[in-house]
Amino acid sequence: MEMNEPQEGRHFVGKKDDLINAKRTFKTLEGRDVLILYHQGGFYALDYYCYHAGGKLETGDIEEIGGTLCIICPKHKYKISLAKGEGLCKTIDKTQNPPMPKWFSKGVKQRVHTVRETNGDVYVELSKMPGWIESDYYQGEEGKEKRAKA
Ligand code: FES
Repeated sequence: MEMNEPQEGRHFVGKKDDLINAKRTFKTLEGRDVLILYHQGGFYALDYYCYHAGGKLETGDIEEIGGTLCIICPKHKYKISLAKGEGLCKTIDKTQNPPMPKWFSKGVKQRVHTVRETNGDVYVELSKMPGWIESDYYQGEEGKEKRAKA
């Protein structure tokens, strides 16, 4: 099958050059609001609303934290890894002497999606990771209502 043929679960989201120029693009795919990012030569896609309290990630700064590229939610500054959707937090590593502050993963909190580029066309495949991921809440009806009131 040719890569640019329609494929179930794969969504054309734009031309590579347009997405690079835009840097950040909002799309609704199968009813799910997704943020597509271009940063330092790579594309990333993740749920648009932060897992913590539904903040819009579109204007979040991107920084490398503990060796991991993260988006920082503009609302309360939570750090989310772009590649895996892990929430990162800083705690004291008591295994060190003296104990040192260190970044730890709280696990996957934000659903991230797969981005593929073929012949200048960019596609997103929505995550099929089973189970509940905290950012799922803000894609559902209850979460939408909560976001509207925030
Ligand atoms: Fe993102 Fe609180 S809503 S850090």
